[in-house]
Amino acid sequence: MAEIFVAIDGPAGSGKSSISKQAARRLRYNYLDTGAAYRALAWWVLERGMSPADSDAIVEALPDWDYDIGVDPDEYFVTVGETDITEAIREPRVSSAVSGVARVPEIREHVNALFRSIMRSAPRDGIIVEGRDITTVVAPDAPVRILLTASEEVRMARRSAELTTENATEVADQLRKRDAADSRVVDFMTAAEGVVTVDSTTLNFDQTVDAVLDVIRQQT
Ligand code: C5P
Repeated sequence: MAEIFVAIDGPAGSGKSSISKQAARRLRYNYLDTGAAYRALAWWVLERGMSPADSDAIVEALPDWDYDIGVDPDEYFVTVGETDITEAIREPRVSSAVSGVARVPEIREHVNALFRSIMRSAPRDGIIVEGRDITTVVAPDAPVRILLTASEEVRMARRSAELTTENATEVADQLRKRDAADSRVVDFMTAAEGVVTVDSTTLNFDQTVDAVLDVIRQQT
């Protein structure tokens, strides 16, 4: 049963998913990607032909949303019902829909309750939970709380490097729009009191993982 909770927040493209996953591997902790849950919900909403803007219909349908996520960093998966949507939740149509779904307070409450129960029942000693409001809303009492940032320029460049030049501008635009929409709901650009900022602007992947591990070791 997990007893050590590590909360990590940050904007899109900050690398928090890959960094958190790697840090969890190194510590033999579990790992929870909360953004993947919002994406799984957005995917399901689209799949059912609902509008991501129809919050009443989504809230009403929520009890039917049968979602599961892997918390082992080496066996990561996301399913809805019998369907594996680990890859599908990264599609641009899902990225475009997700902020609209995530802005609804009733949806956030439902999803947060799910996160807290996954955290409590995680099998390993510790769990790293990453998202936008983990340090402030989901686990404000976590012994380790980190805000992972990088300059906008570097975040866009890192994302673009994973893509072809044709769609790099489009993706950068989408990231900016998503951050702007998400910032209206939760503040993940400034560290709340007691939250340690790790700025990865001048760090490579391994250095960022080490910086995060240093904070975790100092605080546990
Ligand atoms: O982390 P990722 O970019 O995959 O998150 C996808 C979306 O899920 C975000 O753009 C945001 O709308 C939503 N989200 C959220 N709160 C979280 C994690 C993600 O609102 N804790």
